[in-house]
Amino acid sequence: MSILELQAATIKFGGLIAVNEVSFKLEKGDLFGLIGPNGAGKTTCFNLITGVYKPTSGDIIFHGRQIQGTPPNRIAQLGICRTFQNIRLFPALSVLENVVVGGFLRHRTTLAGALLYLPSSLRETRRLKDEAMDYLKILDLDGVPNARAADLPYGMQRRLEIARAMATKPELLLLDEPAAGMNPQEKQDLMETVKRIRDDHGITILVIEHDMRFVMNLCERIVVLDHGEEIAHGPPEAIRNDPKVISAYLGEPV
Ligand SMILES: Nc1ncnc2c1ncn2[C@@H]1O[C@H](COP(=O)(O)OP(=O)(O)OP(=O)(O)O)[C@@H](O)[C@H]1O
Ligand SMILES: [Mg+2]
Repeated sequence: MSILELQAATIKFGGLIAVNEVSFKLEKGDLFGLIGPNGAGKTTCFNLITGVYKPTSGDIIFHGRQIQGTPPNRIAQLGICRTFQNIRLFPALSVLENVVVGGFLRHRTTLAGALLYLPSSLRETRRLKDEAMDYLKILDLDGVPNARAADLPYGMQRRLEIARAMATKPELLLLDEPAAGMNPQEKQDLMETVKRIRDDHGITILVIEHDMRFVMNLCERIVVLDHGEEIAHGPPEAIRNDPKVISAYLGEPV
């Protein structure tokens, strides 16, 4: 059984069909890419999968169960977690605290709830911090646990978002433009880290990314959207040479 399946998922905003009958399947352990020009409907797909929006029609199926219409916090508890195109950290909290709170958000519906229920016993706090440090290590942030999130350079903030998402122990991780704003070396390192997250932690990954080198080198299968429609689906070699994809990107090299 697939871990995630979109079946003719559609959402309309007034007269605009942002996502139009999009269907694809992710198998457990997939490293799957979702690409397309600006405004193609990629982030909206993430919003459909994570319950931010309910599809106008079509189904979103996780482990064989329809999840459309399920509230976002419940979907996070089911095991789907995401990062955001526009970074959303708790800027005044430390790097470590961001990850600890991330873990709590899986069990509590609000940030206030997460903070209120933070464990009072030292032992429990210790355990959570140790766990958070493990995630920081994976994202190569264990050298700066006490820095304020807001003070981190951009590339590190993006990695911190991934560490926080991992702290919710997801089965499926959705990354919305994780390499945006990174330099080539940071991108290369991130590519290796994302591969490791899949290989070592068995997490299925769906990634949106504009950097074609990044997507083509990282993902094993790719879906391409344009104006809300799925225009191609396949392995990177086929996508790279697909005339529809090339023309959607108006001759940009892919
Ligand atoms: N809540 C909303 N209300 C109205 N229109 C929306 C809403 N959310 C998204 N859209 C529209 O849906 C279309 C798809 O947007 P989306 O953000 O999914 O694109 P994208 O593929 O992620 O683009 P980008 O690469 O620029 O991030 C756009 O035309 C956008 O303006
Ligand atoms: Mg987007």
